[in-house]
Amino acid sequence: MWVSWLMMLLSLWPVAASTARSDVKPGCQEMCGNVSVPYPFGILDRSCAMSNNFFLNCSSNDEGHPELLFGRNMPISDISELEGTVTVGIYAAFNCYNKTGIQTDSFSQSMTLAGPFMFSHTRNIFTATGCNTLAAVTNYESTYGASCLSLCTVDEENRCSGSGYSQISIAKGLKSLYIILSTFYNDTTVSDCNLCGFAFLADTRSLKISDWPLYRMPIYGKDAYATDVVIEWVVENKTCEQAKANTSAYACGANADCTYPESGQGYRCSCNEGFEGNPYLKEGCP
Ligand SMILES: *[C@@H]1O[C@H](CO)[C@@H](O)[C@H](O)[C@H]1NC(C)=O
Ligand SMILES: *[C@@H]1O[C@H](CO)[C@@H](O)[C@H](O)[C@H]1NC(C)=O
Ligand SMILES: *[C@@H]1O[C@H](CO)[C@@H](O)[C@H](O)[C@H]1NC(C)=O
Ligand SMILES: *[C@@H]1O[C@H](CO)[C@@H](O)[C@H](O)[C@H]1NC(C)=O
Ligand SMILES: *[C@@H]1O[C@H](CO)[C@@H](O)[C@H](O)[C@H]1NC(C)=O
Ligand SMILES: *[C@@H]1O[C@H](CO)[C@@H](O)[C@H](O)[C@H]1NC(C)=O
Repeated sequence: MWVSWLMMLLSLWPVAASTARSDVKPGCQEMCGNVSVPYPFGILDRSCAMSNNFFLNCSSNDEGHPELLFGRNMPISDISELEGTVTVGIYAAFNCYNKTGIQTDSFSQSMTLAGPFMFSHTRNIFTATGCNTLAAVTNYESTYGASCLSLCTVDEENRCSGSGYSQISIAKGLKSLYIILSTFYNDTTVSDCNLCGFAFLADTRSLKISDWPLYRMPIYGKDAYATDVVIEWVVENKTCEQAKANTSAYACGANADCTYPESGQGYRCSCNEGFEGNPYLKEGCP
């Protein structure tokens, strides 16, 4: 056991020591603020990205800091060329009622992905919080729908008791999501401990349900409550056979091969065993 651990450490060491290798095309900028943008993604110059689908907007936000955006308005916190993911921040949907049961605030969330992108059904979980919250998620075409019911009761000391949240996984391959909330009971018995319900998609690796207390009220503007959402990408929505048939468009570099993501639909590239690098660059995995 010890011997094999030691061997693993030894074999990993040269890789860790050579992280100076570039993850971008020559002459292209790798960082947008503190987020690394590996090829096939690119910023600043269209020729730095593999195609327009992977060209991202890196520009100054209101505070003058560089911000990497997915689409028009989703801030990116991480891109993984190994896992084929982009992690973006998306505001949570909510609805709030006052103590007489009148709706005072509400926000529905909708998002659509163009190009070879989809919401990860393995990394994300749909979550609703609140004591009387019925949250629904559908796609744009209304061919998919699911809902979550989050309930709890209020004890003698006006504290919420019960889980106060509910989660379900989403379907594979979704490219659009629409999230709305309503209530389940038409009464105000829980209003002493909970006035607002929230619903969101969130990365299971970073979601902490304790960050969503039942007394939470919404914030408006850019500091509104958001979650990390994982978007999966493929190079192109083609089979490996179709992709390899056109050598000038085939995306995988030297010592790399075409692979399929778990979610099907389209191909990605990965380094052959024993090689490390960025499989999408021409020099691939040296
Ligand atoms: C990147 O910067 C943002 C704000 O400038 C900060 O919240 C975040 O923790 C930083 N991320 C890393 C990985 O350093
Ligand atoms: C990039 O985003 C900024 C800020 O949202 C916007 O003003 C600008 O037009 C965008 N640039 C492109 C090329 O889309
Ligand atoms: C709730 O809102 C309604 C409509 O604005 C108002 O008439 C009512 O007084 C409010 N109830 C409380 C407890 O604030
Ligand atoms: C890939 O193509 C299939 C069939 O045309 C389509 O149903 C699917 O939504 C596409 N996937 C992506 C990620 O664009
Ligand atoms: C819910 O309660 C309010 C206030 O008591 C009432 O006006 C409304 O008609 C009720 N709605 C339903 C669907 O029962
Ligand atoms: C092969 O790919 C190139 C570059 O993307 C494209 O211009 C060309 O039309 C493709 N050829 C075929 C036969 O699809």
